Order: sequence, then C-alpha cells, then structure tokens
Amino acid sequence: MKGRSVCVVNDLSIAEQRELYKIAAQVKSRISAGQFPSDTSKSCSYLMFFEDSTRTKESFRNAAATLNHRVNIFDASSSSVNKFETLNDTVRMLCGYTPSMQSVFVIRSKIEGLCRALSDSITEYTTRVGIETPSFVNAGDGRHEHPTQEFLDEFSFLEQLGNDTRSIHIALIGDLLLGRTIHSKADGLCLFDNVTVDLVAPPELHLPADYIAKMKKNGFKLNFFNSLDEYLSSHSVKAPIMYFTRLQLERMDKSMLEKETELRAATTLRMEMLHRLPVGCKIYHPLPRHGQLPEIPFEVDTTSFNGYDEQSRNGYFVRTALLGLLTCVYGHSLADPPISPPRHPRAVMPSISDAVGPVDHTSLNEFFLRIAAANPRHDEAWIDVVFPPKTTPAEVRKNISRMRVLSDTDKLDGYCQVTGNWGIHSIPKSLVDDPNWLLFFNSFFSYCESAEIIFQKSELEFYKLSCKMPHVVTDLPGLGCPNTACVCHPDMKQRDVKPVFEQVSGNKNFSCRFCEKQVNGRDIFQIQL
Ligand code: NCD
Repeated sequence: MKGRSVCVVNDLSIAEQRELYKIAAQVKSRISAGQFPSDTSKSCSYLMFFEDSTRTKESFRNAAATLNHRVNIFDASSSSVNKFETLNDTVRMLCGYTPSMQSVFVIRSKIEGLCRALSDSITEYTTRVGIETPSFVNAGDGRHEHPTQEFLDEFSFLEQLGNDTRSIHIALIGDLLLGRTIHSKADGLCLFDNVTVDLVAPPELHLPADYIAKMKKNGFKLNFFNSLDEYLSSHSVKAPIMYFTRLQLERMDKSMLEKETELRAATTLRMEMLHRLPVGCKIYHPLPRHGQLPEIPFEVDTTSFNGYDEQSRNGYFVRTALLGLLTCVYGHSLADPPISPPRHPRAVMPSISDAVGPVDHTSLNEFFLRIAAANPRHDEAWIDVVFPPKTTPAEVRKNISRMRVLSDTDKLDGYCQVTGNWGIHSIPKSLVDDPNWLLFFNSFFSYCESAEIIFQKSELEFYKLSCKMPHVVTDLPGLGCPNTACVCHPDMKQRDVKPVFEQVSGNKNFSCRFCEKQVNGRDIFQIQL
C-alpha cells in the first residue's frame, strides 16, 4: 500500500479494511506483550493539524514513533499558511525535505476534500520531478469524513462481536448532521453483510439526505427516532452497540446554538436509562465528551457498558497498523496490487453519440470544421437544446444567459420556447472556429440531462446529434462547488485547486471529486447574474 492515500473510507477496499483489522489485532497483542516492531523502513510522518485534536493527533504521533518514523509536527499557527500560502505550495515544499523517504502526511482541517486535492496535485509533482510519492491520510476534514476514526470504530465493534461480520445492529445518537464520524459510517459499516442502523437525533440534527441515500443504497435497514427517550421507550429491539457523538458546536450557526439545551436533552444518556439497554450492550463515543454537560454520565465509566475507553486505546493500534501498511512495514501478504482512485482526464470533450446523417465524427471541434467545409455558402445553423422536463421557461432563460456569459458567446441570437426547449439560430460562420464554442457546448452538456442539437446544412438538410453529459467536467469557466467548505470553493482560499465533477453512476448528478457533494449539472456553475 506504499504511497496510497486514505482520504475517505472507500479508498481502502473491504478486503484491505479486513487486512488492516487483522494486522491491528496482531499489533495490539504484540505491543501489549512488550514487542515493538524493529524491522522498520526509512519513513517520515508529518502531522498537520489545523483543527484541535487530542486523541487523533497523539495516537498518530505515538503510532509513528512506534514505527521509528521521523515525526514532524507542523506548527500551523506560525507557518506561512498565515501569509496566504496555499497548502499545496506548503506540502510541495515539505516533500523536498525528505527526498529518499516514504512520507505520510496526516492532515486535519476544516477544508473538506483537502487530502484528495493534495494527493492529486502532489502525485503529479513527485512523478514529474522523480521523487517518492507521499501518502495523505485524512484525520478529519470539516463535516465530511474521518476515515481513520471509522477504522478504529469498526475494529472495536469487531472485538465486541468476536470478529463475526455477518450482521451488525447499531444506534447512532447525537449530532448526525455535522458529525463526520457518523458520515464515515455510511461506508465503514459495509464491512458487515447485514446492517441495521437506528438513527437517533432531533429533526434539527437529522442525518443529511445524501448519507441516508448512501446507507439505503448500501442495503442498510434504517429506523428513525427523534430522541433517546423516544428510542428507549419504543417497542423496537434496541441495538447492542450504542454510538454517541457530541454536539458539534463549533460548526453550528446561531439559530442552532440557541437550541443547544433541547438538542442536548434529546441526545444525552441519563443513569436511569441504563436498565433499558440490552444485556451485553456497549456504549461507544469518538470523544471528547463535554466536560460540564457530558453526553454519557461519568458514572458509566466504571460499568460494563463502557466501550469508549478501549475504543480510544484502539486508535493507537489501528493507526500503527495503517501507517505500517502505508510505509511497507506490514502488508507484504496483500495479494492485489493497489488500485489508485481514478485520475481525471486532462481534456474534457463532450461525447457525441447517435449521429444521424452523414456525420461520423467523435469530437465536436472536428464536427464544426466539417460543417464549415461542407457548407461554404450557408451561414446558418440551428441548435435545439432539450432541457429536463420540469424546467420552467424562466429558468431556461436565466440559465441560457449564464451559459452565454460563461462561454462569452453573448453575441448569439436566441429564443426560448415555452415547452422548455431552447434554440439558437443564425450562427455566424466565424464562430465555428472560436474555442469558446467548445466551452459553450460543454457547459450545455453538463447542464442538460440530454441535448439534441440540430444543425441546418441547407434548406432541406439537417444534422441531428444526441449528446451525452460528459463523465468528468473540469476546466470550464464559472465552474465551482456550491459547498462553501469545499477545498475548491473560493472561501477556502486554495486558488490552485481546480473544481472537478465526476458523473455519478446510476443517476444524472455530478459528485465533487473533493468533498463528494452531489450536485446537478445546473448547480456546478457558480455564476451570479
Ligand atoms: C471526533 C472528531 O474530531 O471528529 N473526535 C476524534 O477524532 N476523536 C469527534 C468529535 O470531535 O466530536
């Protein structure tokens, strides 16, 4: 797994996750018996924490030291990041200080998708200059994911379940809206064949729709409850694994903070509730818990319900196993070669399918040139773009204006039909060679779920093309992720990260390559008119 990055849970296949848990169990028993790894490679760990942390940072620091890594603690408060440097520039420079070593960057930040963006750009850089490609490990990025917490949580559940992966029944209680450890469960629980999840949170803190959809798609059975009281007094069978999270106050807006008392009441465990928990039930929490208003009363610590102390200890063993895998101390038995996440292609070209008439071109540019050559005297083409069924004429007009501004083709004459179609006519031939045309069409293909383009060759001859949405959309002006916490959003000040959207299989949405937010083709263009 040398040089692999772990930006989200799914960057490790289920087989690799199982291998990680197997190695973590060996690490735990050996280290508990006083045996530390001696055959370690020349490796280096950079810990870059831009958000507060105790467990994640300290367990990684101890794990790296256990593996004899050179451990660098990046001082975020006094670095050039404060002089408006981008993190890409910072990390590229750090790579130069450990030239012949295998490096792992462990990064926590409020910037969602940061590790993926760094992994993409630094891989390009190290390949170009011929130095070792480092790994990037996401130690928590905003509300998005916390994959290594997920791995240690799953490892702890496996210990409770005696390594039986046939089924799991878990209750997730607390801030399901903003808690990244909860969001990572939508993929992490796929380790089990049958998964039942009881989601316990007041409406304000409900799990976001994207994650509910993901859990359903992954085949999880879901039950919803608005408070812990409601859950424990319901007739449903209670989960033997209860996973609490704290309110993520630092990510809440004012209106949410005003409701803190009620939100807390709905998600806090009280001692008199314990007798309603199933026999053998374990309580987990990624920690920290609130010191004044604890989600789990301190009195639970000394009971058999306490699963959180062992869970937090497991962070050290699982992270030692993970760092060891990424720097080739462990994992020699892994059979399959690593599968890197797909790199997006450089050029974005629309695919032209189903060309009717004497056209057999594969690129729109080529197609335009042929039109111009075949029809030297005729100065017009007609393009009819079909919008998604419920698009209103006003929306069509507004978005056509957006597309024109984006592609700088505002000289075009156009009209809108009430049916939701839109046509442009009288295209001057001079525009055929204009590269902005390609931008214009790429914008259209991203925007429309389907598009039919009719070029009029002469009075009676037409070319008709059905165009597909591109698989990857990047390099277009005005493109941007609507998530203001995403690494490619201007608010995050990482100007060197270009937005990339990948088509979601099975529906017509795009997913941001970095923060994974799903958006439709209309919302990937952040242009205000
Ligand atoms: C979690 C985190 O940072 O997301 N804590 C952790 O990593 N141990 C959960 C939290 O802060 O509530």
